[in-house]
Amino acid sequence: MSENNYNDKAFNNGGFSRRDFVKGSAALLGGALVSQIPFSASAGAYVAGSDTLKVAVIGCGGRGTGAAIQALSTKGNVKLVAMADAFRDRLDDSYTNIQKKFEGDKKRVDVPEKNKFVGFDGYKKAIALADVVILATPPGFRPIHFEEAVKAGKHVFMEKPVATDAPGVRRVLAAAEEAKKKNLKVVMGLQRRYQNAYLETIKRINDGMIGDVVAAQAYWHNAGVWVRPRQAGQTEMEYQMRNWYYFNWLCGDHINEQHIHNIDVVNWVKNGYPVSAQGMGGRQVRNGVDHGEIYDHHYVEYTYADGTILNSQCRHIPNTMNRVEETFAGSKGRVVLSGDGKGIITDLSGKVLYNHRGKDDPNPYQTEHDILFAAIRENKPYNNAEIAAKSTMTAIMGRMATYSGQVINWDEALNSEISIMPKTFAFDAETPTKPDANGRYPIPTPGVTKVV
Ligand SMILES: NC(=O)c1ccc[n+]([C@@H]2O[C@H](COP(=O)([O-])OP(=O)(O)OC[C@H]3O[C@@H](n4cnc5c(N)ncnc54)[C@H](O)[C@@H]3O)[C@@H](O)[C@H]2O)c1
Repeated sequence: MSENNYNDKAFNNGGFSRRDFVKGSAALLGGALVSQIPFSASAGAYVAGSDTLKVAVIGCGGRGTGAAIQALSTKGNVKLVAMADAFRDRLDDSYTNIQKKFEGDKKRVDVPEKNKFVGFDGYKKAIALADVVILATPPGFRPIHFEEAVKAGKHVFMEKPVATDAPGVRRVLAAAEEAKKKNLKVVMGLQRRYQNAYLETIKRINDGMIGDVVAAQAYWHNAGVWVRPRQAGQTEMEYQMRNWYYFNWLCGDHINEQHIHNIDVVNWVKNGYPVSAQGMGGRQVRNGVDHGEIYDHHYVEYTYADGTILNSQCRHIPNTMNRVEETFAGSKGRVVLSGDGKGIITDLSGKVLYNHRGKDDPNPYQTEHDILFAAIRENKPYNNAEIAAKSTMTAIMGRMATYSGQVINWDEALNSEISIMPKTFAFDAETPTKPDANGRYPIPTPGVTKVV
């Protein structure tokens, strides 16, 4: 399984076959893990276990394709019935890949031409046709799409992050409340929360194995991701949509788009969110003409209500140290966790107290869907959209700190009225940031840039 496959051609099914899934998830769903994942209590519409659950995917790129395959690999009758993407070529590639995976099985994958929607407005039509929707566009659109899915009364799998600015986070929080009232099931794609190494290790932290957690480090250091260079004939909007990683309104910068995974783990362990952040960052290497406006490194000191400090660091620079991990220091011991399935607990002398090596653990990307679909079929309340929104806010607060060079408090960050989204969505519409005559964009500058 890899979460670094930000590659145009690749789609994220976690390198996992259907046979593996049936083996892994059956054990998981019958076992203890489900009970460790909280179900809140409310009642709602019943979907009989044998009903066919109709799925629509909005955002048919790498992750949308992978998530669709995982949804269709859950137990029971599930069928992909609708797809929406801004671009026809992305939708077509995705459909071909999903069909291949299910070897043309029309019971699982049958999206007639009339149910394929292209452009900015297609999401509404696709959502209307489904029981469960997968939201996997770039995160800037998530608040709009999640709001619509909840309004239409649909169950949701949505990828992280779930917004790129504070107004977007607030929209997700409001829709999350509405979803709870309607007893809609919502699973978000912070897959460490569904991964055995994390579940087992954090259970031991909560049981007191390392005493009080007093400090944490979160790292996402690697070479960076794809670039989709400007093509002749593209409008500015099309260019930014294709090369979305490098534009804040779409991506939120890499602290939001990737490092959120590590930051969320610390929020999970602390069972809360930081009260303030300060930090620094910049773009030293990733400053080419197709690198838009985002930074290539951020270092943020987050402070939690009890004084615990999280030092968060993320870097996208080739030929530098690779490290994607979270570590914790407690009054009685230390912890190292990583997405490749490692969870190690030691006492203060270095003696190993727990050593999880999860290479054969169930694929958490699949588990997310197993849990979502089981919750729908068994009508068990399940909704972690609020966690997704607040961890997104934590990452955005870090970005606010590095862009401004100021100390940013949670309340002022969450209540910020600064929207970075376009006013209208169309391929000839105005983009929130525009290039100068040399194709360069304004870069956030500490001491100058206003963030709240
Ligand atoms: N949990 C994980 O480990 C993980 C891994 C990869 C990606 N992701 C997340 O999944 C999301 C998508 O990432 P990706 O790697 O699949 O990117 P991608 O570029 O491969 O796919 C995004 C797709 O969304 C489409 N799109 C853009 N705007 C749209 C709109 N308004 N309506 C419909 N379609 C639209 C694009 O055309 C593209 O096909 C991101 O939020 C990313 O953070 C999560």
